[in-house]
Amino acid sequence: MTQLTLGPAPRAGTSVSPAPAVPPVPAPRTAAPGERVARTRRYLMCPPTHFDVVYSINPWMDPGKPVDGALARLQWDGLVHAFRSLGHRVELIEPLPGYPDMVFAANGATVIGGKVLSARFRHVERAAEGPAYLEWFRARGYETHQAAHVNEGEGDYLLAGRYLLAGTGFRTDIRSHREAEKLFGLPVVGLRLVDPRFYHLDTALAVLDDDLIMYYPEAFSRESRGVLRVLYPDAVIATEEDAEAFGLNAVSDGRHVFLPSAATHLTDELRERGFEPICVELSELLKSGGSAKCCTLELRGGPR
Ligand code: ARG
Repeated sequence: MTQLTLGPAPRAGTSVSPAPAVPPVPAPRTAAPGERVARTRRYLMCPPTHFDVVYSINPWMDPGKPVDGALARLQWDGLVHAFRSLGHRVELIEPLPGYPDMVFAANGATVIGGKVLSARFRHVERAAEGPAYLEWFRARGYETHQAAHVNEGEGDYLLAGRYLLAGTGFRTDIRSHREAEKLFGLPVVGLRLVDPRFYHLDTALAVLDDDLIMYYPEAFSRESRGVLRVLYPDAVIATEEDAEAFGLNAVSDGRHVFLPSAATHLTDELRERGFEPICVELSELLKSGGSAKCCTLELRGGPR
């Protein structure tokens, strides 16, 4: 297996360290029969120029704990580099001063088939991010829709094949699910989160492929666990350690799964299932309760 690290080798997975001193990740190649196939994606990301932890809106955030801004930037650059090296296109939005969480682009909107549902944040500390992201889309000619209800974009909306998995319980208002269902014309599967450590759906569940997910069952209500069991009998089940390491805050292109290096059990499971884990280090962003997926908003359809 290819090791792509500076310094000591990690315990598991192909590791991508801060760009650009890293040798390029091997170029995508054609898949052999039965192999997992990567689909090239477009992502929107926001540089962590103003990243900091100055308020606390989830249990991971401690404003008393120092954040290393330069390291956060290096780690984020490493993620961008990993995406680009594997052929994905990364677009950027200008960060707003005074909005230290804007780096978490996943929360900025939900984009499916070129339609954009704006984010409407639960907390006033992040309120201005919604309009800033919406303006980015409007300026580029996307079909934009102003949300009527609180929703935190892809933090709580994850597209899985023909279903839109939708979190609620901490951030996204359940009334937003109906709104998303109408706008995107997709069946919405509402899932209730019950553990405040896993306050967004993308901290407790990741879509690996159109019909395969990985998740941490204890993060969900009993009813939602039942729904997940029926819909995804083959799901990859994460341990509490995986979830606490934000291993479920992962981005998958169908073959490569970008996830934090600390989620060692998940990394092994993914390899077993034919995926190629790409381990990224995002410890500074974790201080705000975010990792790889939180930094990444997928652009599906719309103007190029
Ligand atoms: N500090 C941010 C918040 O609590 C982190 C957001 C993480 N984003 C995500 N998609 N889970 O809102």
